[in-house]
Amino acid sequence: MLIPLILSGGSGTRLWPISRKNLPKQFLSLTGNETLFQQTTQRSMGLEEVAAPIVVASDGHRFLAAEQLQELKIEGASILLEPMARNTAPAIAVGAMQAMARNTDAIILVLPADHLIGDNESFRTAVAKALPLAEMGWLVTFGIRPDRPETGFGYIRRGEPLENAAFQVAQFVEKPKLDVATHYLASGEYDWNSGMFMFRASRYLEELGLHAPAMLQAAQAAFDKAIADLDFVRLDAEAFSSAPNVSIDYAVMEKTTRAALVPVSCEWSDIGSWDALWLAADKDVNGNHLEGDVIAMDTKGSLIRSHDRHLVATVGLEDIIVVTTPDATLVARRDASQDVKKIVEELKSAG
Ligand code: GDD
Ligand code: MG
Repeated sequence: MLIPLILSGGSGTRLWPISRKNLPKQFLSLTGNETLFQQTTQRSMGLEEVAAPIVVASDGHRFLAAEQLQELKIEGASILLEPMARNTAPAIAVGAMQAMARNTDAIILVLPADHLIGDNESFRTAVAKALPLAEMGWLVTFGIRPDRPETGFGYIRRGEPLENAAFQVAQFVEKPKLDVATHYLASGEYDWNSGMFMFRASRYLEELGLHAPAMLQAAQAAFDKAIADLDFVRLDAEAFSSAPNVSIDYAVMEKTTRAALVPVSCEWSDIGSWDALWLAADKDVNGNHLEGDVIAMDTKGSLIRSHDRHLVATVGLEDIIVVTTPDATLVARRDASQDVKKIVEELKSAG
């Protein structure tokens, strides 16, 4: 049984001021009509012999997740609610437990809710290649060919070839420094970790027991004491809060000896920043992505987004992000857009 496990608990702070605490980017339609969460769920439901998804989300977003699933007419989904964010390793752990409650042999396909994938066909092909490897006990990652020394990603060195054009993972390095990433890019031996994974639910929990036993214990207690409430499964707050706040990349993927890589050749973006959204978006002849009431004169390489009927006019700009909302406006250099999260931190500490 193949079960999609959709991770929807991120806060998307780098897409402020559109992405907010109560409405983070995965629940917004940034491209097209459906939200990123809906696109991800739809994409997973298009796979062969797939079961209803398991969604792991923040308790505060339970109605967003439920309503957006309802709009897609998806039935039988389980929505696990985290009382607080503990990063991806514990989120996947409770998801794996839920999957095993449905079927002890379940294979899970972990999908970040906030990614943009250009070509669903090559996604399906990659999933089909990964499935037999996951059945054999591999922890499968999906690799993307890098085209820049991005420091926000995990890097995977290809090892021995496996069946289905896959490779063993020789080395997994999460978020290297710029000089290291530059070296990896130049070597041609590394792929980016797309953040999507496939494995047997039981194998993941086994690995967690080896590399992060305290986390496994906390997640198990949170799951065992969870309260079922309609479609929701509310994890126990006290137990879950004691889980270490660590991502799957650091907790398991950097450490395991049983990781495999399936290359994916589709357009892919994690839309991690305004710059990434600009990269993925349609652009006019001047390289601008304009949305809403915008006049852009002598403006190049920019993303300008106005809300409602608020006119935004620019003159003589290059490589700039301008985003307006009813209560906040962002103006940033495109190459500094990773730092937008600092604004959110500043706002938080101001109170
Ligand atoms: N349920 C839940 N709970 N989901 C979470 C949590 C959490 O506490 N934290 C993050 N997520 C979700 C996010 O919404 C996102 O969909 C996904 O898990 C990955 O988390 P990010 O915080 O976006 O990770 P990242 O982008 O820094 O790094 C990961 O993704 C990169 C590719 O985009 C890593 O896997 C990297 O190795 C990878 O290259
Ligand atoms: Mg991300």
